[in-house]
Amino acid sequence: MSIIEKAAGKLGGQPRSPASPTGTERAAPASLIEGALAKQRSEPAAGFVATPIEPVFVERPSEPQSDSESSFQSINLARLHRMGGVTPDAEKSQIAEEFRIIKRPLIANAFGQGTARVKNGNLIMVTSSLPGEGKSFCAVNLAISMAMEMDRTVLLIDADVAKPRVPEYLGIHADKGLLDVLQDKDLKLSDVLIKTDIAKLTVLPAGRTYKRATELLASAAMTRLVEDIGNRYPDRIILFDSPPLLATSESSVLATHMGQIVMVVEAEKTSQEAVREALSHIQSCEVVGMLLNKTTPTPGADYYYGYYGSYGR
Ligand SMILES: Nc1ncnc2c1ncn2[C@@H]1O[C@H](COP(=O)(O)OP(=O)(O)OP(=O)(O)O)[C@@H](O)[C@H]1O
Ligand SMILES: [Mg+2]
Repeated sequence: MSIIEKAAGKLGGQPRSPASPTGTERAAPASLIEGALAKQRSEPAAGFVATPIEPVFVERPSEPQSDSESSFQSINLARLHRMGGVTPDAEKSQIAEEFRIIKRPLIANAFGQGTARVKNGNLIMVTSSLPGEGKSFCAVNLAISMAMEMDRTVLLIDADVAKPRVPEYLGIHADKGLLDVLQDKDLKLSDVLIKTDIAKLTVLPAGRTYKRATELLASAAMTRLVEDIGNRYPDRIILFDSPPLLATSESSVLATHMGQIVMVVEAEKTSQEAVREALSHIQSCEVVGMLLNKTTPTPGADYYYGYYGSYGR
């Protein structure tokens, strides 16, 4: 199943018929990313390179650097495969190839040399305008794809505390997690991390439900935690699955800490207006990539992942 097609070829320049029964303007992220496409065309070698900002990484030796106390669980690869996900035994599958294409610019921005490196570029949030566009699916697949083929560890954080789906995708059991660490000062991050049998993939589950979950996620404690994780693991990819931007405020707050954001757009469904409004909530992040998800497979089509943030504003 193809998830991403090249938006430029599929959507660009051609007026789309108003498929919506309500007359809503339909998925046209291409116009939002014209700037990104233009930039990519004019500088193909640096097409995915983002901001000329020098990286700032601060060492924090106060806490141990290892996750030795973390628990260990096996990922249910058969289940993940059935759900259409990337698995190590199907490296040549179409889905694996698609996420290979998507992850390359993210990794280049996170760990590239000189100006190719984005400040806090290893902190990446996967979000979308509306519920159900495929954030968790894409976050999990990106995490696995990165962990399988990189010499760096990936920490996947389930920051959608209202609807945590990461454990379900991975087939793991999750108990304590992010919310517990935010709530309980005595609980260390390493106490709740889950190491997996994909050697470089570690998961931080959302944690147990708290009444004040939303407030916790937008709290100063969350800010400190994200900064701490970013500082402590500058050589890791830290991937956040998050709630939809137009449904809650957490993702907008989380965005302020991110070096990069992957904005999932459900093809043929999410309106341009919704995408525009969602983008206005994450202006704090300079590198926003658009990922067109759930497209209809077309013979010979290739995939689309392009930048909006640095070029389109
Ligand atoms: N590319 C894809 N191909 C096939 N199915 C997909 C794809 N992306 C997402 N899905 C399916 O769409 C549904 C919604 O996906 P997912 O849970 O990842 O969305 P979400 O944006 O995280 O939703 P929520 O806002 O509720 O957290 C799931 O059933 C998922 O398996
Ligand atoms: Mg989700």
